[in-house]
Amino acid sequence: MITVHSVNLSFAHNGATLPVLRDISFHLESEDYCAIIGPSGCGKTSLLFLLAGLLQPDSGTIDITGSPRSGTILQNFGLFPWKTVSQNIALGLVLQKRPPHEVRRRVDSLLEEMGLSGFGEHFPGQLSGGMQQRVALARALAIEPDILFMDEPLSSLDALTRERLQNLIVDIRQAKGISTVLVTHSIEEAVFLGRTIIVLSGRPGRVLQIIDNPDADTDNFRQSDTFFQRCIAVRQILAGEVDGPHA
Ligand SMILES: Nc1ncnc2c1ncn2[C@@H]1O[C@H](COP(=O)(O)OP(=O)(O)OP(=O)(O)O)[C@@H](O)[C@H]1O
Ligand SMILES: [Mg+2]
Repeated sequence: MITVHSVNLSFAHNGATLPVLRDISFHLESEDYCAIIGPSGCGKTSLLFLLAGLLQPDSGTIDITGSPRSGTILQNFGLFPWKTVSQNIALGLVLQKRPPHEVRRRVDSLLEEMGLSGFGEHFPGQLSGGMQQRVALARALAIEPDILFMDEPLSSLDALTRERLQNLIVDIRQAKGISTVLVTHSIEEAVFLGRTIIVLSGRPGRVLQIIDNPDADTDNFRQSDTFFQRCIAVRQILAGEVDGPHA
């Protein structure tokens, strides 16, 4: 369970203070699937860093019950180009000082699960964008997280590869019972993958609306009327056509 209460964040820039997030509050149940959407620069990555404990707010609180193990996929993959695919996937396990035979077993099984068998000794630069994205996913999954924080994990992929990876994320979180918080620019992706959709305003990011989207993850959702209606609703909120209850 994640409870964010009245969080404010600013950065110091050239002696001035740049407000980035203003009065952010929301609540996520455990095993929720959350999508955070908002315009570029509105503070999405900063909010994800706050949730992952990589940044501290200026004021307000973030409570995450049960000290879950979290995995994070950074914007632009965050892979180390000088390490092989296997070494990248193994990173978290090596940091946890797991025995080498266990690391190898886990990495091999993740390579297979992600359709990357035979690419363990390649370097990220030798892979396609979609494959690099699957390496980033495998690396985050290696430590068997309870929560996965993902920062635009599928941007820069072509539409079909993107849909395939969206389906992979659905399969993984259903199979492993992982909560996910996904930051995205894409309205369709937020509606397909977010059971709770948090729509942020432009900087400083405020919560414009929190949308309950219980159909996310259901069969054929992408082709349904509900899907299109929800996409239109999110687009209108982002465009400032509708004031949400928090605006
Ligand atoms: N470490 C930092 N120091 C100073 N300013 C920062 C820092 N990190 C982010 N910012 C500023 O905070 C604002 C929000 O940045 P953030 O990366 O959270 O936005 P974002 O919504 O993720 O953007 P994008 O969609 O382009 O990824 C931006 O104006 C950025 O310049
Ligand atoms: Mg960002």
